[in-house]
Amino acid sequence: MERIVSLSSLDFYLLKAPQRQKVIIADSNTSELCLSVLIYNMESLIDAQIIEIEAGEESKNLETYCSIVEALIEQGADKDTVLIALGGGVVCDVASFVASTFKRGIEVCLIPTTTLAMVDAAIGGKNGLNIGTVKNQIGNIKFASKVCIDEVFLETLEARHIVNGVAEMLKTALIADRQLAYEIMQMPPLEAGTNIQLLKRCIRIKQSIVRKDPNDKAERRLLNFGHTIGHAIESLAMQEGRDLLHGEAIANGMYHILNLCEQMPQEEKDILRTYLSTHFTIEPIADKMQDLFNYMNADKKNSNQCFNLVLLESIGKGVYNCSTDREQILSCMK
Ligand SMILES: NC(=O)c1ccc[n+]([C@@H]2O[C@H](COP(=O)([O-])OP(=O)(O)OC[C@H]3O[C@@H](n4cnc5c(N)ncnc54)[C@H](O)[C@@H]3O)[C@@H](O)[C@H]2O)c1
Repeated sequence: MERIVSLSSLDFYLLKAPQRQKVIIADSNTSELCLSVLIYNMESLIDAQIIEIEAGEESKNLETYCSIVEALIEQGADKDTVLIALGGGVVCDVASFVASTFKRGIEVCLIPTTTLAMVDAAIGGKNGLNIGTVKNQIGNIKFASKVCIDEVFLETLEARHIVNGVAEMLKTALIADRQLAYEIMQMPPLEAGTNIQLLKRCIRIKQSIVRKDPNDKAERRLLNFGHTIGHAIESLAMQEGRDLLHGEAIANGMYHILNLCEQMPQEEKDILRTYLSTHFTIEPIADKMQDLFNYMNADKKNSNQCFNLVLLESIGKGVYNCSTDREQILSCMK
């Protein structure tokens, strides 16, 4: 499991091994907005090499992966090189996958710079690359040695990306912590998404779930609440060239899956639907179900022609492995 650390303790750790080569992977935005803050705070990275990738989901692919590996070879990286990811979920996912495969595995430290990456993408070791418009078809589980959470990086993050991260914060709370879910929903999202105490509570919940089931065979599946439909909505938007962020797609996925949560009290569904539709644009999906099923079929958690969904019994209590077939889903989405 990754250790959550401050910038100064990551610096102290890296300074202890000055002979090790450090390579920072950033995207075109974080290299402009976050890199100088990082280097100002970390003496150990003054001489680090930098590999920059294009910002955005379109970079989460094999082409970017190969370009980073080629740059590492050119820079003389070896088994002892430490990769430092500085960016959102895209940079963290790509850097983690590179680190898991380069020379059969090198150390990676993650410095997430978006709300979403702080509470989710950088935690729990999973990484992924998209194949075409299908999300996360290649990937593995590679724990970062250290994940550095510092709100200084959120100062330059656009409001839309802060709210985007709140979708994943809420998801984490909805499956496991009723009190936290209500706290998040009662706060303006821009406040919730930059509140370091709330972020850290979400991180602790995710870590405690992952610790029990690192290989995603049981409880860890809870973290996919909203994701089966959400990923399909995200992939379809990518295919259609529409601008939809990951958290926004997951907010849609959570909204629509509530139709299948039969055990959940109606009053709680109403509270959640009101929150989600107030802060996110919810797309109707009834007439897109055939297209969405095409993407849902690629979901890694399916078995025996059924979708293994995560549902809510109540706010703060998720249940996983809820086997549901196409017809049941279709009848609830009308
Ligand atoms: N591995 C996992 O467990 C996991 C979990 C959740 C999401 N994800 C993945 O994470 C990705 C989404 O992550 P994201 O929302 O962070 O997107 P992102 O990495 O694309 O970042 C969003 C945008 O914000 C910019 N940015 C990043 N930090 C900034 C800062 N501090 N100031 C200004 N701009 C900044 C980026 O350049 C980008 O344009 C998706 O690919 C998703 O599949 C992975």
